[in-house]
Amino acid sequence: MASTYILILLALLGVGNGYISRTTSYRLRNQALNTQEDAENSNEEVDRLAWIATSSIPPKTISSYTKSKVIATASNVIASTITSLGINGNSAAYGSDEAVINKDKIKMPNSAYTTLGEGTKMCRILNGMWQLSGYHGYEPNKENAVAAMSKCANEGYSTFDLADIYGPAEDYVGSFCKGRLASPLAKDCQFFTKWVPRPQEITRRIVTENIDKSLLRMNSERLDLLQFHWWDYNNKYYYNAMAELMHLQQDDKILNIGLTNFDTDHMVDLIEQNVPIVSNQVAFSVLDTRPLQKMVIASEEKGVKLLVYGSLLGGFLSSEWLGKPAPNMDSLTNVSLRKYLPWIYYWGGWTLFQELLLVLNTIAQKHSVSLSNVALKWVLDQPAVGGAIVGIRLGLKDHLSDNLNVFNLSLDSDDLAAIEAVQKKSKNLINVFGDCGGEYRKRG
Ligand SMILES: NC(=O)c1ccc[n+]([C@@H]2O[C@H](COP(=O)([O-])OP(=O)(O)OC[C@H]3O[C@@H](n4cnc5c(N)ncnc54)[C@H](OP(=O)(O)O)[C@@H]3O)[C@@H](O)[C@H]2O)c1
Repeated sequence: MASTYILILLALLGVGNGYISRTTSYRLRNQALNTQEDAENSNEEVDRLAWIATSSIPPKTISSYTKSKVIATASNVIASTITSLGINGNSAAYGSDEAVINKDKIKMPNSAYTTLGEGTKMCRILNGMWQLSGYHGYEPNKENAVAAMSKCANEGYSTFDLADIYGPAEDYVGSFCKGRLASPLAKDCQFFTKWVPRPQEITRRIVTENIDKSLLRMNSERLDLLQFHWWDYNNKYYYNAMAELMHLQQDDKILNIGLTNFDTDHMVDLIEQNVPIVSNQVAFSVLDTRPLQKMVIASEEKGVKLLVYGSLLGGFLSSEWLGKPAPNMDSLTNVSLRKYLPWIYYWGGWTLFQELLLVLNTIAQKHSVSLSNVALKWVLDQPAVGGAIVGIRLGLKDHLSDNLNVFNLSLDSDDLAAIEAVQKKSKNLINVFGDCGGEYRKRG
């Protein structure tokens, strides 16, 4: 607690004064007081929630589990995933000899790009790097993954989404930027990372150490975008984190500050306290339309860009699953598919999902594009959406040339009406998880 008072004292003395005014700094930090006990109690809860967020077990069932049962269940599922992997990664296409820059560079239209904050250019389809973190059905290899990053950049997919907790993702960015595997294209790319701290007392030292660690891993002097995740709104130390991130922004270690999985009310609260939030990363798809309830309206009003994920439901929103029977959870070797399969059931079930795939496929055939193109275009057309993060199994396979078609596709009113007709038969996931990010938090 003493350190918090020291921080407030420093703020009052005007240390690090600049973009962040003394009043803002003081107000943010003051709200972080008196939460020491919350911080100490919430780590167990975070373990449980972290598991729920990526597991296949319904939250209701999990909430009755003890911590040891959650850990045992998690280990079982992970063990069964490993056992059933059996995939060695068809990485030949990315072998280092072939990791040359494709001279017939595919030209992206200007509409494929937008700006974030004060002019950070970004591609509207971002390369999602969670798929490097393990349990995505292959064993990532640095040489192949970095070569695949070059391929993305070469084809115009210049923006990468990653996190401190996505396995080697930050290190691979570092290798892509400097050293033996570095690509000359890296300087034209953007790397949006995240900081996902445990709910603990947040001090200047903790924030600085963590951001410095990401900078070191990524071989960078400044983070293009730092997206902040917080597990527990009852633990007010996230206000301290925001104040310190603003100081690091002022020190030029962070260009833009964003959030991930914040709900509308907590996002707006921070913005109204002068935290310069440029983006919020949330789940959004033809199946998960939660952001349409509140988030897009507030984001438009506050000038926040939504960077959305789960827009292909880990690959379920593709022709590969059209006309297929419901998969058995144990047969899924990819943790993204395991994450989203329960969402399909909460939303309306496998039969209704097949109806959605059929409608998307009919639209796709009409426009001579893929089913996934239609799903991505639908979400990119939603208000406030800056970009859709599409997971890529770097070094294994990609859909870069197919996804390029999204930028030449226009959905007409008949297409939108057909999609809406299926959505109307479903249950809105806001009634299951609450507002955006609710799946990562305990509901009251
Ligand atoms: N902030 C958060 O809490 C959070 C949570 C989850 C994800 N994310 C971010 O979002 C990214 C996306 O991850 P996600 O799990 O939500 O997955 P997703 O983007 O919904 O699905 C990715 C999968 O879709 C398939 N795909 C992509 N383009 C396709 C096409 N044109 N045709 C057919 N299939 C296609 C690929 O499957 P195959 O590889 O099988 O071909 C790919 O692995 C992550 O990497 C991460 O950066 C953030």
